[in-house]
Amino acid sequence: MFRGKKRNIQRILLSIRCWCFVQARFLEVKFPVKNKEILQKMTTLRPFTCNDMFKFNNVNLDPLTETYGLSFYMQYLARWPEYFQVAESPNGNIMGYIMGKAEGNGDNWHGHVTALTVSPDYRRLGLAALLMNFLEDVSEKKKAYFVDLFVRVSNKVAINMYKNLGYIVYRTILDYYFGDPDEDAYDMRKACSRDVEKKSIIPYTQPVRSEDLEMF
Ligand SMILES: CC(C)(COP(=O)(O)OP(=O)(O)OC[C@H]1O[C@@H](n2cnc3c(N)ncnc32)[C@H](O)[C@@H]1OP(=O)(O)O)[C@@H](O)C(=O)NCCC(=O)NCCS
Repeated sequence: MFRGKKRNIQRILLSIRCWCFVQARFLEVKFPVKNKEILQKMTTLRPFTCNDMFKFNNVNLDPLTETYGLSFYMQYLARWPEYFQVAESPNGNIMGYIMGKAEGNGDNWHGHVTALTVSPDYRRLGLAALLMNFLEDVSEKKKAYFVDLFVRVSNKVAINMYKNLGYIVYRTILDYYFGDPDEDAYDMRKACSRDVEKKSIIPYTQPVRSEDLEMF
C-alpha cells in the first residue's frame, strides 16, 4: 500500500519535471530571454567538441567573427581543450564560444583569447563576460601573469566591452589584419593576480609593426 503511494508520487514528480522541460524549450523558442540572470541560469558552459563545428554557423556568420580552417580548431581542441568552451542554450543552440590558449615563457607566461563570439540573438546578456571570466579563471589556475587578446581598432563594441571587463590597450599593432586596406589591432591586456606589481600592463608608448611581434 505504502509502496504504491510512493510510486505514484514518483510518477507525478517525473511528469512535472517533463512538463517543465518541455515548457522551458517552448518558452525559449517563443520568447527569447532578455533577462541576464535567467539567461545565465539557462546557459550551459561546456567544453567545445568536434560536433559543434557542424552547428556554429549562427554564431560565425558575423562579419567580426573570424572563421578558421578545420585544422586550426582541431589544434586548439587537442592542445588547449580547457580554453575552448561553448555556451549552449537548453534547446542545444550554440549561443557563443571562446577559444584560447596558454603561451609564453617566464614572466611572459599568459592566457590568450584567440576568438570570442556571441550569437546576435543572445547579445547584451552577459554571455561574453561569462566566457571571459571562465578563461581568466583557467589562466589564474595555470599561474599566468596576464591575459591578452587582439582586436580590430574599428571594433568599438568589443573594445568597450574589454575595457569594462578591466582590460587596457597595451599597444597598437600596425596592419595586423590583412584586407583592403589592412587594419591595425589593439593588443589588450589584463593582469592576473600573479603579476603583483602589474608590470605586464605597462603600455607601450609607440605602435609596433606586426612583423616585429615577438614569436612565442
Ligand atoms: C563583442 C561581443 C562578444 C559581446 O558579447 P555580449 O555577450 O553581447 O557581451 P556582454 O553582454 O557580456 O557585455 C559585457 C559588457 O560589454 C559592454 N557591451 C557589450 N556589447 C555592447 C554594445 N553593443 N554596446 C555597448 N556596450 C556593450 C557592456 O558594458 C556590457 O555590460 P552591460 O551589458 O552590463 O552594460 C559580441 O558583440 C560579439 O560576438 N561580437 C562579434 C564578434 C566580436 O567582435 N568578437 C570580439 C573580437 S576580439
